[in-house]
Amino acid sequence: MDLQEKLDKIDKLKKQHNALILAHNYVIPEVQDLADFVGDSLELSIKAQRSSSPVIVFCGVSFMAETAKILSPQSIVLHPTPNSGCPMADMVDAEKVRTLKQDMPHAVTVCYVNSTAAVKAEVDICCTSANAAKIIDSIPEDREIIFMPDKNLGANVARELQREITLFPGFCPTHDRILPEMLIDTKKQYPHAEVLVHPECSPEVVELADYALSTGGILRHVRQSDSKYFIIGTEEGILHRLRKENPGKEFILLHSALLCPNMKKISVDDVLASLEKMQYQVKLSPELIEKARRPIERMLELS
Ligand code: 13P
Ligand code: SF4
Repeated sequence: MDLQEKLDKIDKLKKQHNALILAHNYVIPEVQDLADFVGDSLELSIKAQRSSSPVIVFCGVSFMAETAKILSPQSIVLHPTPNSGCPMADMVDAEKVRTLKQDMPHAVTVCYVNSTAAVKAEVDICCTSANAAKIIDSIPEDREIIFMPDKNLGANVARELQREITLFPGFCPTHDRILPEMLIDTKKQYPHAEVLVHPECSPEVVELADYALSTGGILRHVRQSDSKYFIIGTEEGILHRLRKENPGKEFILLHSALLCPNMKKISVDDVLASLEKMQYQVKLSPELIEKARRPIERMLELS
């Protein structure tokens, strides 16, 4: 079967099941192009929450598919590649959160949406990279804050808001690979380029950039900017939309190995198999959904 035949089959099955296909900005171009909506974690959560489709096919990593199920529990949520997890999300577990809460019983616990449902169920509020500063800023000044699992995002927000935050030592292996020297060297080669990085990069890298934005924020910024050249410090999958939406602009990736292997696992074949066999359904207990939904809904109310 050639690509067009597969796409036609996906389209037919999608209509048959009244399914909605959501994809993250990092998945492979062919999968982004077949999706009904492509976005960042916050945008995808909002889409899932507002969806009335009985079936959602989620093309992204596991925590994103879980979040869709939590926000749309009445839908069948299919994750075509259940083995594509986020290593940062797996750095913290519910037991570790409980220990942190015992050590700092009065602290507000904030967890990045890149976390498992079991971790979300333990915390007060969630955030994404698009709204982390807003969420932290909503916490009264006199309250202690524990932030997990991304030490970089937490440190970047702490610096921006001048707040003290206790950080869990997790990180994204893809973004943590970016070093300040890489940025300094690339800026020398493209002195007129704007530098846009993801806030999962280290504070040393963020300090050297013009902006630290979510993937959706990077896409919006580039659309509105008059610059022609952009140095991009995030996973390479974002280049597909950047190029498609901005034909006259040029993008320089900070590092050739800016790749999230788990995001790349989902192929067109996997999406097709997912709709043909209704696989693999995200299964979470109603109790876990109930507990994990509260911190996500608190976040969405403030977004
Ligand atoms: P965004 O919410 O900015 O798309 O980021 C998700 C992510 O996993 C970044 O590594
Ligand atoms: Fe997780 Fe990093 Fe991949 Fe994002 S890029 S899904 S944080 S491993």
